[in-house]
Amino acid sequence: MPISRLPAPGRRSLMLGGSAALAATAGLRRAPAARAADRLGGGPATIRLAAQAGTVPLVGPPHPATLVWGYDGRIPGPEIRVRQGERLRVVLENRLPEETTIHWHGLRVPNAMDGVPHLTQDPVPPGGTFAYEFDVEDAGTYWYHPHVRGAEQVARGLCGALIVEEREPPPTIDRDVTWVLGDWRLQEDAQLAGGFGNRMDAGMAGRIGNTVTVNGRVPEEPFAVRAGERIRLRLVNAATARIFGLVFEGHAPLVVALNGHPVQPHAPGDGRVVLGPGERADLVLDMTGRPGARARVLDTFYSRLEYRLLDLAYGPQPLRDRPQAAPVPALPANPLPEPELTRAERHAVVLGGGMMGRLDGARVDGRWLEPREMLRHGIAWTINGLAAAPGHHVHEPLAVLRRGASYVLALRNETAWWHPMHLHGHAFRILSRNGAPTSRREWGDTVLIPPRDSAEIAFVADNPGDWMFHCHVLEHQAAGMMGVVRVA
Ligand code: C2O
Ligand code: CU
Repeated sequence: MPISRLPAPGRRSLMLGGSAALAATAGLRRAPAARAADRLGGGPATIRLAAQAGTVPLVGPPHPATLVWGYDGRIPGPEIRVRQGERLRVVLENRLPEETTIHWHGLRVPNAMDGVPHLTQDPVPPGGTFAYEFDVEDAGTYWYHPHVRGAEQVARGLCGALIVEEREPPPTIDRDVTWVLGDWRLQEDAQLAGGFGNRMDAGMAGRIGNTVTVNGRVPEEPFAVRAGERIRLRLVNAATARIFGLVFEGHAPLVVALNGHPVQPHAPGDGRVVLGPGERADLVLDMTGRPGARARVLDTFYSRLEYRLLDLAYGPQPLRDRPQAAPVPALPANPLPEPELTRAERHAVVLGGGMMGRLDGARVDGRWLEPREMLRHGIAWTINGLAAAPGHHVHEPLAVLRRGASYVLALRNETAWWHPMHLHGHAFRILSRNGAPTSRREWGDTVLIPPRDSAEIAFVADNPGDWMFHCHVLEHQAAGMMGVVRVA
């Protein structure tokens, strides 16, 4: 497996010597929440977000704080909470030294609100503002991030969770918790290493870092829980490239939603929750341990590179004597249009390129580039033989879809690398993986495809406009693995 050739997460080097003096029962830091619920008069409440530099103690003392870019200068940005069916209004203020936008990952917004530079809006210049406003139709766990030079802007820290609460809160949940997972490539002085989008990263696994954070901190403190508690844990993978595979030792989490949308509650395959970049999972975790107990949460995704993400620490007081007997609630379905599979038009989508794979050349902006020219232009990947010029978000559509019609995309990954493929503006059903039908109805906005593997997705093209379809390893996206799907 090529992945094992990556340098080991050098997290240890930074974490050793980190402060161990923190109280063992302290909770993880929570991102400050921004509520969209309180409104004056008829219009939606306005949330203001400033994209700006900030200094954040990612690693913790004795290491210095890290200079980052964040929304309101924080990592992660404020958690936005809104109720399903409400209208959300967010004014972005750009205090960065370069252009930016916000993309609402996974939300089915009108095209003009999608935050893709040049394709759906003019990028917001330094000092500029842009007001995003849209109705939120689907409940679930989503997130927001820039779409300008994402491989650098997201790697510098710009991201935040966007939680859409169900109209009726699901029963029996004691606590609703969000973990935004981040991955950083830091130098010894805890500052971000440069080389964003370099050729090695772009042509291989992306910029996998050496420091993993939960809600913007290397978790030195355990996560405090109580015996008998039932937690809804919302996981967001905000890394540009790292895939997570989380194991909750001694516990049996059930997955209740994937990429925002409810799924029949089930134990994750192999007992681990796998999340590609951009993906989310909602878990229900019954705290079945005893008061005073500890349990590890491990990330075992990359073989031989496993590490302990954090500990769960049970406080002395149980919340109740035994875990709840009531079954884990199935969440109410979102109002998604059901694709008509028998009549759907089928399109093959072939992912190509990357190192240790074949590179045949690519068409870029209507021009054929031989492999050597491609690499000279910083292009390493193709979708159906097309590649996006680095940084460009406007190009000839991969496909033009009829509004209201159903489509099946048969995705085939012919490369030696993993690709979380993400479609804007729609939610799709995942019909099969590697030729085997999915065992439960699964919807999403991203599908993680292993090397030389495949997936079939289906959706109704009901949202008019030009929509990005790209790999969410943001270094892959920047190096060509990005296209436009037009719904007209
Ligand atoms: Cu999460 Cu095109 O993005
Ligand atoms: Cu990719």
